[in-house]
Amino acid sequence: MAINKVTKIGVLTSGGDSPGMNAAIRAVVRTGLYNGLEVFGIMRGYQGMIDNDIVSMESKSVANIIQRGGTILKTARCKEFFEYEGRKKAYANLKSRGIDGLVIIGGDGSFRGAKKFHEEFDIPSVGLPGTIDKDIVGTDFTIGFDTAVNTAVEAIDKIRDTADAHDRLFIIEVMGRDAGFIALHSGIATGAENILIPERKTDIEDIIQSLQEKEKRKKLVNLIVVAEGDDFGGAEGVNRVIKERLPELDTRVCVLGHIQRGGSPTCLDRLVASRMGYHAVECLIEGNYNIMIGIKENRINHTPLEKAAKMKTRINEEWIKIIRVLSS
Ligand code: F6P
Repeated sequence: MAINKVTKIGVLTSGGDSPGMNAAIRAVVRTGLYNGLEVFGIMRGYQGMIDNDIVSMESKSVANIIQRGGTILKTARCKEFFEYEGRKKAYANLKSRGIDGLVIIGGDGSFRGAKKFHEEFDIPSVGLPGTIDKDIVGTDFTIGFDTAVNTAVEAIDKIRDTADAHDRLFIIEVMGRDAGFIALHSGIATGAENILIPERKTDIEDIIQSLQEKEKRKKLVNLIVVAEGDDFGGAEGVNRVIKERLPELDTRVCVLGHIQRGGSPTCLDRLVASRMGYHAVECLIEGNYNIMIGIKENRINHTPLEKAAKMKTRINEEWIKIIRVLSS
């Protein structure tokens, strides 16, 4: 399919929001305008493409947003875009405005949609990894992970204070339906005694044993960080078993939930988002399409959209040992 040089580009955010999406939108809009392109903001992800909810963006449209969480373009998980009829409507709306290139900020599901769209219609895309889960191949960073994990660390530190005051065991659930990165990083950084993630089978006997052994030594303050997708059914599931087996322990559950998705992005997330947003537009201008922009070993890295799939957490076995030794 012959593709001409882009002149008008659209930017959208799709899937779960993540802190730093606004910084990425700002970078895309300003880089586009700097290069003489017209830039459009597409509201609520692919839904706005279907509903023709598309707004013209100027430099001032993205003023004062680099520090804000959420996304000024709003976001959605759009079922209609899975259907050919939905994509056809979206195409007609883009065509009527002359939009000939897209920047998609989201996760692997959003990239699959972009790839499918380009196979059927002549509008190419560049993807930016926007997810707090950090579970995308081809990049060391995803926009929002650093903020989310720091939010979790701040919350867990606070929980440790009250756990210590009451000699309690806290089971803290962090986000991550399929990926354990938030649990792993926040658990290590807060000195958690156990970290449970979807990618590893939870050894409940081992946890019970170590709690019993700690009880004997009168070490009564313990934190267990659990990813929501752990095979024991998150924090509630783990707590149920511990309560049955060790009824004498004073335990509490705390689910951090969506606070991990909001808040002002950290410096790192703003830098990552700005750098990736800038490169996304450069790529569209150079005719380098249907790729996801990542950063690997501090270099910009391109991954074909069809390969930018979910990544499973691989734990360095050294961490497992370090967690055990440092929490003993
Ligand atoms: O993908 C980001 C994420 O926050 C996951 O960690 C979590 O499982 C999911 O989204 C929650 O989605 P929702 O906001 O639709 O409940």
